[in-house]
Amino acid sequence: MSNQLEQIKELTLLREKARLGGGQKRIDAQHEKGKCTARERISMLLDEGSFEEFDMFVTHRCDNFGMQEKTILGDGVVTGYGTIDGRLVYVFAQDFTVFGGSLSETMAMKICKVMEQAMKVGAPLIGINDSGGARIQEGVNALAGYGDIFQNNILGSGVIPQISALFGPCAGGAVYSPALTDFTIMMKGSSYMFLTGPKVVKTVTGEDVTQEELGGANVHASKSGVAHFAVDTEEDGVELIRELLSYIPQNNMEEPPRIECDDPVDRLDDSLNDIIPDSPNKPYNMFEIIHTLVDNGKFLEVHKEYATNVIVGFARFNGTSVGIVANQPRVLAGVLDINASRKAARFVRFCDAFNIPLVTLVDVPGFLPGTHQEYGGVILHGAKLLYAYGEATVPKITVILRKAYGGAYIVMSSKHLGGDLNYAWPSAEIAVMGPSGAIEVLYGKEMVQAEDPALFVEQKEKEYRDKFANPYNAARYGYIDDIIEPRNTRFRIIRSLQLLATKKQSLPPKKHDNLPL
Ligand code: HXC
Repeated sequence: MSNQLEQIKELTLLREKARLGGGQKRIDAQHEKGKCTARERISMLLDEGSFEEFDMFVTHRCDNFGMQEKTILGDGVVTGYGTIDGRLVYVFAQDFTVFGGSLSETMAMKICKVMEQAMKVGAPLIGINDSGGARIQEGVNALAGYGDIFQNNILGSGVIPQISALFGPCAGGAVYSPALTDFTIMMKGSSYMFLTGPKVVKTVTGEDVTQEELGGANVHASKSGVAHFAVDTEEDGVELIRELLSYIPQNNMEEPPRIECDDPVDRLDDSLNDIIPDSPNKPYNMFEIIHTLVDNGKFLEVHKEYATNVIVGFARFNGTSVGIVANQPRVLAGVLDINASRKAARFVRFCDAFNIPLVTLVDVPGFLPGTHQEYGGVILHGAKLLYAYGEATVPKITVILRKAYGGAYIVMSSKHLGGDLNYAWPSAEIAVMGPSGAIEVLYGKEMVQAEDPALFVEQKEKEYRDKFANPYNAARYGYIDDIIEPRNTRFRIIRSLQLLATKKQSLPPKKHDNLPL
């Protein structure tokens, strides 16, 4: 065999060795836990045959605790690039079979390399996390590595989409990298995220809590909102990433992909003319409206189980990707509270950063009153949503279906915050507050003195309704561009998106804003 053939053989053998990561035994252990390996995850995620790997031959440089005797090619993370539906993406996947996927100085360098390239060429970054955290043997060098990753997360924020999939543990400060990315997906049963684990919790607070109760997928998807999605299997997780990316542009300088649409633009839906209940206090399901308006009823909901009084997610109108924000009258009457404001604000800012138009469907009775909300800072959290809409320069289309009261009317993409096209259904009620509250404030004394208080209230509420609880007063001032027949809504939204496709708006120059955090 010639020298060159020998060298090629050696390369092949080294590649095979690197592909085995921590070895067959640890791969089997990973499978026994129902988990895939880093390479299996990447091959599920990317288009077949598209993956090109970097830094397969990197090894750690640590000689503490006998680590010099234990080097593994690739050092616990698989990095590189490939395509999803033909579009370039960068990816890293931590390999739990190598030192428990723990983060070393060199692993961080590998991760930072793909992060920096993704930013240079303008392509999304997907990180698959499955790690025991900072590699203990490396001390501060491992911490420094995390710091470098966080810094790149920050620099890339709003420049390229960043998605984190957690298919295993993520503890300590390591959780901050997913938290800095745009979307976090957690796997039910096998992933968890917390700053301090159950043992430390027990020592410090005396609280008995399991890993799952403290930071499992269900907890973060429904209680804390740290996770945007919780999935049942890793296959579902990678499928979700592919679907999510289909709505999103490659970077902040590009438009989201447009796809061919076979759903008629002028499809009318008569059921919408009859969907608002006669009683203003009776709920209906906002999902029914969303599904009937968007192309082929397809809606990718974000934060499905968190703050369900507001709905956010992606859909398409005539093939154009949009972000939908909608109040849900079925939950807490669609009121805005701390969590709903934070959820919607983050989504609005993501859409604005990545040139995705916003469609807002409004039925909101106001902000949730009470000490719990006030002590929790609902003023600041509500201001986040206000701020997010007010600074968003993407096309903003608003449809008020029923209630739009008080501050919540202004917040929900009103004309006053730069709404480009603001429509209302004839059933819209736009006022400072609902009739009963208003009558209480205006006629509290007279109510008590009235001969027939119930009749008095009924008459006054009718008077108030006729005057304010309709869209015509707002339309008279031009705050509503048009009052539309509900069944035409899809068509009107599509026309508005076409009209606004060339919208250009810039904000005053500044170093950065000072969003009320
Ligand atoms: C070095 C680690 C490691 C780590 C796991 N391993 N975590 N090696 N540094 N942080 C190694 C184990 O020694 C073991 O090696 C192999 O990975 C698999 O781990 P097991 O414990 O056998 O696996 P399992 O039972 O599934 O438990 C997984 C685990 C546990 C729950 C993640 O390993 C664990 O608690 N690890 C420590 C977690 C932690 O406290 N990390 C620090 C968090 S603080 P062998 O050779 O036996 O197979 C942090 C700070 C970040 O990360 C700050 C950023 C700013």
